[in-house]
Amino acid sequence: MEPGMEPYRVKSVEEIPFLTAKERKDAILKADFNPYRMLASNITIDLITDSGFSAMSTKQWSAMMLGDESYAGSASFERYQSAVQDITGYKYVLPAHQGRACEKVLFNALVTEGSVIVNNNHYDSTKTNISLNKGIALDIAMVTDDTADFPGNMDIDKLKKVLEEKGEEIPLVMITVTNNKMRGQPVSMANIKAASYVCKAHGIPFILDGCRFAENSWFIKEREDGYGDMTPREIAKEMFSYADGCMISAKKDANSTMGGVLAMNSEDLYDQCVPYVIATEGHTTYGGLSGRDLEAVAVGLYEVLDESYLRYRRANLKFFEEELISQGVPGVFPAGGHAIYLNANKLCPKIPADEFPGLTFAGLLYIESGVRCLDIGSFSPNASDLIRLAVPRRVYTTEHLKYVARMIARVAEKNKDRETGLTMTRSRTKSAQYKHVTGSFKMKEDM
Ligand code: F0G
Repeated sequence: MEPGMEPYRVKSVEEIPFLTAKERKDAILKADFNPYRMLASNITIDLITDSGFSAMSTKQWSAMMLGDESYAGSASFERYQSAVQDITGYKYVLPAHQGRACEKVLFNALVTEGSVIVNNNHYDSTKTNISLNKGIALDIAMVTDDTADFPGNMDIDKLKKVLEEKGEEIPLVMITVTNNKMRGQPVSMANIKAASYVCKAHGIPFILDGCRFAENSWFIKEREDGYGDMTPREIAKEMFSYADGCMISAKKDANSTMGGVLAMNSEDLYDQCVPYVIATEGHTTYGGLSGRDLEAVAVGLYEVLDESYLRYRRANLKFFEEELISQGVPGVFPAGGHAIYLNANKLCPKIPADEFPGLTFAGLLYIESGVRCLDIGSFSPNASDLIRLAVPRRVYTTEHLKYVARMIARVAEKNKDRETGLTMTRSRTKSAQYKHVTGSFKMKEDM
C-alpha cells in the first residue's frame, strides 16, 4: 500500500549523484568492496545507516541560528535540558556528542573489571565500551521470531535468574529500544515494565538505550493493548518512567545530525558521571556539542514524537517492505522500525559462507544501482549473512524506495546462480566486531 503523502513539503533540495555502471565499478574497486570506504559523492541512494543522516526541519535550522556558544551556562543548554526533562521525565541531564559518548561516560562511572551488564541486545559500540572498562556484556533477548508483536523483548525469566545468580556483579541493566541488533524490532511496554520491577526488587539501576524511542513508542501504540488512544509522547513518557535513566543517540530519534543525551533520576549517578563528561566531552552544559547542536536536538526531540511524522515514517518503511515482498526478495519480515534486513544466503545461495555473500550482494547492488547498504552478517555469529538497508528519517521518498526495491529484485535475479564471492585481503583490526568496517576485499571472479 502506498504510504500516502509526506507530512512535510520540500524547501531545500540536495542533488543525488548518478554515475555510469563503469564509474560505479571503478568506485567500488577503489574502496576494496568495503561500503564504509566508499565516497558518499559516488552514492545514489545511501542506506548504510539511519544515524545522523536525517533531514532536519526548518524549525531545527532556525533554532540553530539561536545557538548560544557560551562555554558554561548557555541558553541553548537550558533549552536542550528542558526538552529532555519534559520528554523523558528525568531530572538530571548531561549532553554528550553522540550515543557512544554517553555509553563511555556511564560505563566509566559504573563498570569495573568483571562487571556484567545485561541488555536485551547490546549495540556494537555499547559492547565495546563495556569491554574497554573490562566488563562483560550479556545479551538476554527473548528467543522468538519476527512475526511476534514485539520480537525485540528481553527474556524476563533469564533476567530474574541472572540477577539472582550474579546480582553483586551487575551495576546496571539496560533495554535497547528498538532492539537494533534484533533487526530494529520493538520492545513492549509490558516487557519494559517487567524488567523495571525485577531490577527494582534487586536494587539495580535500569537504563534505557533509547536511540529509537519514538519508533518504539509507535509500535506500542499500534500493537499493544491499551495504548491505541495514547499519543506517542505519552507512551514515550511512560516508557521512560519505568527506567532510572536513559542514553539516547540524538542522531537517530531526535532527527539531528549530531548529539547525545544522558539523563537520570539519581543525583548520585549524575555526580558520578560529571567528571567523565568534563574529562572527555567538555563542560556539563555543552558536552562535546556546539550550542547549535543542542538547539537542533531540543527541537528534534519533539518533532520525532509528532503523530503525523511517525505515522508516515512507519508507512514509508512498511511500503518498502511490501515492495520487496511483492517482488519475491527474501528478507526478515515483518521488518522492524528503522531498517529492512535481507538474507544474503537466500539471495545468493551458491556463494560459500566464507566468501561473504552479504558483502558480495551489497557490492553487486551498488554496481547495478548506486545503492549503498551494509552487510552485517559475515562477522556476526547470529546474523547469518544479513544485509541491512537502513532508512534515514525524512530523506527518501516512496519513489526512491521503489527504485531500491526494483534494483534489489533485479540483482537477486541476475545472481541467483552466482557461485563465487569475495576474499578478504586485509583488515586493520583484530576485533571481529570492526573487521567489516576496516577490511579490504577482492572479487574471486569478475562481477
Ligand atoms: N545504541 C544503539 C542501539 C545504536 O543503534 C547506536 C548506533 C548507538 C547506541 C551508538 O550511537 O552512533 O550516536 O554513537 N547505531 C548506528 C547504526 C550507528 O548504524 O545502527 P552513536
